[in-house]
Formats: sequence, structure tokens, C-alpha cells
Amino acid sequence: HFTGLHFDEYPVTKHLGANKVPFVIGVAGGTASGKTTVCDMIIQQLHDHRVVLVNQDSFYRGLTPEESAKVGEYNFDHPDAFDSEALLECLEQLKANQPIKIPEYDFKSHQRCSEKFRKVNASDVIIVEGILIFHDARLREYMNMKIFVDTDADVRLARRIRRDTLERGRDVNGVIEQYGRFVKPAFDDFVLPTKKYADVILPRGGDNHVAIDLIVQHIRTKLGQHDLRKIYPNVFVIQSTFQV
Ligand code: CTP
Repeated sequence: HFTGLHFDEYPVTKHLGANKVPFVIGVAGGTASGKTTVCDMIIQQLHDHRVVLVNQDSFYRGLTPEESAKVGEYNFDHPDAFDSEALLECLEQLKANQPIKIPEYDFKSHQRCSEKFRKVNASDVIIVEGILIFHDARLREYMNMKIFVDTDADVRLARRIRRDTLERGRDVNGVIEQYGRFVKPAFDDFVLPTKKYADVILPRGGDNHVAIDLIVQHIRTKLGQHDLRKIYPNVFVIQSTFQV
């Protein structure tokens, strides 16, 4: 019976509480593989937790005037197209339970909207999503769970044509030209080789309800371990005393 014991008498308990860090999930995969849908489904199922989504797309570098003049020559699928340092900094702050501001990116102008930011508060779960989030080892080290969304290339190309023409202001010929010249080679050279870092390879993306349920179950187990520490901190003090 622990109720007679005051929380403040247990500095160890406080220390355990302060150590509570968010659970970080990485969701990678080729263009239009369904990463966003998978993330949305995980977020929906974790409705009773604070979950935040960070898109690697938000960290695209804005093009210089020279690059903008020759935008057809620019490789948006190369790791250098992203400001990885800024993404790392944001994750570091989120992991330290600090609120952050995420830049907004405009796929039509290929620029960051200079005044537009999305404010994100400290959360229990952080989901990082993007084609190349497993490329940088420092980024991988932040992740407690890595998922690679593995969708067939023809399905991805079909989705990409539809999305880029409807939502990103492109024409069909331009999308197909960019796909053959940059997107597909960069997928083979940079995205596919990172599949080996994944803990879970998710076939068919958002259509795979069974796998997504299993993933959510695992996250809940991990979060439950955190929550027990919050509700019954003294139990863990007693336990650690026995361990000593
Ligand atoms: N891209 C582009 N123009 C820009 C910036 C990026 O065409 N100015 C393209 C890149 O070619 C890259 C893609 O955007 O292949 C990355 O976005 P993608 O992963 O396709 O978008 P998500 O919505 O995250 O993907 P999913 O459908 O898997 O959710």
C-alpha cells in the first residue's frame, strides 16, 4: 500500500518521469507509395494519444533563382534536395518535449512559404514521413520503429500522375518525364537501399489493415509502459529498490 508515501520523497521517481521521451516512428517508401495514408490510419487509431506528424517534404530547400529558371533540371529526389539539418533540429526539440514550428512548402512554386509555419506541440508519438528519412544515419537513430511502405512501382506511378496533375499543378508529360529522368533512378539509388533499415516492411500501404493494426498494437504496448510509470510511479521505485 503506497498511498502514505509522498511523491516528493522519491527523487528517483522524478528522474524516471523526466526521462519520458516520445516514441518516434519513421515511415519511408517511394513516391506515392501511400505513406501519408498509413500515417493517417496510425494517427486515427491512436486518437487517445497525442500524436504529431512531421513530413520530410516540409524540409525541402527552396530553389535559388538560377535553379528556378531551370526547374526541369532539378533533382527533387536526391538527398541534397532536403535541409536535413533543420529536420534534425526539429526532431531534437520535439524529442526533448519542446514545441516547434514546421515550415510549409509549396510544390507549385518549389519554395518555402516564408511566413507560414505549422506549430507543433510536444507529443507522446512523433511520426516522421518521407521518401528519404532512412538515408541519414543521425535521423535513423532517433527512431524507435521504422516502417517501409512497399507498393508496386506501377501503382505508385499511376497515383503520382493523378496527384501531381490534380494537386501540384503539373502536366502529364512533365510528370512522366521527371519520373523517368529523376524519380525512378533516385528511388533505385537512394530510397530502395534504405529498405534494409526498416523493422517492418509494409506491402500495399494503406490497404494493409492487418499490418497497420499490428503496428498500432505494438505502439500501444510501448506507450502503455510509459503510462504505467505515470500512474503508478511508486511501484517502480519499489521495484528499483529491490533491483539494487
Ligand atoms: N517533388 C516535386 N516537386 C517539388 C518537390 C518534390 O515534384 N518541388 C517530388 C519529388 O520528385 C519526390 C516527391 O515530390 O519524388 C516526394 O513526395 P511524395 O513522397 O511523393 O509525397 P507523399 O505525399 O509524402 O507520398 P505518399 O503518397 O507516399 O503519401
